[in-house]
Amino acid sequence: MASGRSEGGWDAPPWDGLWVGGNLATMAGPEEYGTIEDGALAVEDGEVAWVGPQGNLPGKPEDLAATVHPVSGAWILPGLVDCHTHLVWAGSRADEFEQRLQGVSYEEIARRGGGILSTVRATREAPEEGLLEAAGRRLQRLLEEGVTTVEIKSGYGLEPETEVKMLRAVRALGDRHPVQVVSTFLGAHAVPPEYREDPDGYVELVCREMIPTVAEAGLADAVDGFCETIAFSVEQMDRVFDAAAEHGLPVKLHAEQLTNLGGAELVARHEGLSADHLEHLDEDGVAAMAEAGTVAVLLPGAFYTLRETQVPPVELLRRHEVPMALATDWNPGSSPLGSLLWMLNLACTLFRLTPGEALAGVTREAARALGLSDRGTLEIGKRADFSVWEVERPAALAYEPATHRPVEIVRGGAPTTGPSLS
Ligand code: NIG
Ligand code: FE
Repeated sequence: MASGRSEGGWDAPPWDGLWVGGNLATMAGPEEYGTIEDGALAVEDGEVAWVGPQGNLPGKPEDLAATVHPVSGAWILPGLVDCHTHLVWAGSRADEFEQRLQGVSYEEIARRGGGILSTVRATREAPEEGLLEAAGRRLQRLLEEGVTTVEIKSGYGLEPETEVKMLRAVRALGDRHPVQVVSTFLGAHAVPPEYREDPDGYVELVCREMIPTVAEAGLADAVDGFCETIAFSVEQMDRVFDAAAEHGLPVKLHAEQLTNLGGAELVARHEGLSADHLEHLDEDGVAAMAEAGTVAVLLPGAFYTLRETQVPPVELLRRHEVPMALATDWNPGSSPLGSLLWMLNLACTLFRLTPGEALAGVTREAARALGLSDRGTLEIGKRADFSVWEVERPAALAYEPATHRPVEIVRGGAPTTGPSLS
């Protein structure tokens, strides 16, 4: 759109859209929410072009933008980012839920060949289109909540063909749905049955065949793994991360979820994007993450589902200024919870995050955990991903789970209106 001032005024409105009449939680700046009361936000070419108090606008709203969107006292928040999900899978693990209620642990189910491996069997058999449709329905739940960027992992194939099938489905989700999708290769999620007696052989397959294949096909944006007694050791993950580096892929890790193996220090040593879960993280791990700029991704849905008792060391993370992100970890086993908004409440209730920290965790810090510096806050030049909420204050989203929905969602500058459930 043309813009500029001619003699008689603007020859065309400079901005595509202008949102006025509400409050902004920019999630930028010194105060927790980066609040601008009675704020205005302008969009041009899919980016935030102006943000500030409405009284500081350089003219009348209707002269400034092709379309003016009054939001009458509502709050405008950055688009939500779910930075850790396993949305692509087949089958169900409701039977394991029942077993856990009878006292069988997640680890014991895994040792008996259930858990991740039960989803692997179903996912290997599933046609790609079926996987895609099921994942699309799950994705839809997140989109309704105002999620504008989502990360999705592979890891239920554990063989080249099925890992590639999953990652193709991940890319197709991004093509078919109005959301930015980040794809993560999680071949090192569990040892597949064929390699039960030779886990190092499987690590070799991941490093020498799978990572090169998915990197060359452009199917992955990062490499992840599960560092745990029931999965891979620090030494094995070290090899996987070296292979990722050879192919220019950043790394992240499921670390210190059930025990403390030193996974966070490993991922920090590789200057990884994030270490995720972290219930058993110690101060050395925290310090290493702080030094490397590795984000702590907290996953309260898995903590809740597995009825864990040791919470992540939130106070240490604060003290060392490690950024804390939050995500659903939506998967069929440890976190069958399809709501990022719900995580806000769980993180506050279970981990004692403040609602402001929790909201930063699903916006600014989640974007950082994905290495995306172009989003997560409402600032000039950032992607125009945001949503409008009819709440009295942003803390309401954490306070009242499963209650609120955005009344409008803007993705890359394009508005879509949702049902008012606030
Ligand atoms: O993030 N921790 C390992 N992976 C998943 C669980 C996957 C599953 O149980 O299917 C997680 O919790
Ligand atoms: Fe996970």
